[in-house]
Amino acid sequence: MSVVKAVFPVAGLGTRILPATKALAKEMLPLVDKPVIQHAVEEALSAGLKELIFVTSAAKDIIRAHFQRNAALEAELARRGKQAKLEQTRDILPPGVSCRYVVQSEPLGLGHAILCAKPLVGDEPFAVILPDELLRHDGGACLRQLIAFHERKNASAVAVGEVPPEEVSRYGIVGFVEDGAGGRKMEVAVEKPSPEEAPSTLGLIGRYVFTPRIMTLLETTPKGAGNEIQLTDAIAALLREQDVYLCEVESPRSDCGSLLGYLKANVESALEREDIGAEFRAWLMALLQK
Ligand code: G1P
Repeated sequence: MSVVKAVFPVAGLGTRILPATKALAKEMLPLVDKPVIQHAVEEALSAGLKELIFVTSAAKDIIRAHFQRNAALEAELARRGKQAKLEQTRDILPPGVSCRYVVQSEPLGLGHAILCAKPLVGDEPFAVILPDELLRHDGGACLRQLIAFHERKNASAVAVGEVPPEEVSRYGIVGFVEDGAGGRKMEVAVEKPSPEEAPSTLGLIGRYVFTPRIMTLLETTPKGAGNEIQLTDAIAALLREQDVYLCEVESPRSDCGSLLGYLKANVESALEREDIGAEFRAWLMALLQK
């Protein structure tokens, strides 16, 4: 069965970026002029995903508003002849793409957030995208690879990347075996291990394609690290029944959920812009030389 559904868990409180995130969803913080969530959605669309499922909290209606048409704004931009801005505002989602929303009423963890999407996912394979993890220059390649693994092996596949040894306790960390056919199969998965417990320095970096079995396993996954229901623990349970393949991501990553990561991602995004990049670079160089 082909993968068309993408789940975006966006109910987190964003406490690392308070006070900016007191009333504003952290996923709506911009990288230059485009919200973090829009980058994640564009990545999903590039990989051919068409049914977008957002797991939100009651306070995050702003995300729904961002992906809805805004007739009054569009009419005003048209009246002022601002064609480029009109297209950017109007065409965020191409035709044939649907958005659905489900509320996670209690902050019980990432695993619980994914489980909240079960009625909308149904008995289908699906992708999970954590918007905090920005894959720069990836253009959906990582998700396309995970989907291709799923289609070839009829199994789950997850993206991993090298993390600095001193940061393993911030990630889900995996161990693997070679499958003899050029692939890597996950052997263990541990959520936020200490450096001594970590099976490797390969971390889960927020892109997953799952068989529907993960949903059933999440229903019985007990609270784990941080006293939350962890997706990584459900993956560890899945491993006992089904293969889970690893795809190592080479493209640079930014953690937009942390203050420093968000700041760096903003500067990098600005430097890469065709319209303002050169001027921004010159200004930044001059500032740093002061
Ligand atoms: C979550 C996952 C973790 C993963 C990480 C990637 O952790 O639980 O397995 O490695 O995202 O960013 P969080 O960042 O929500 O603590």
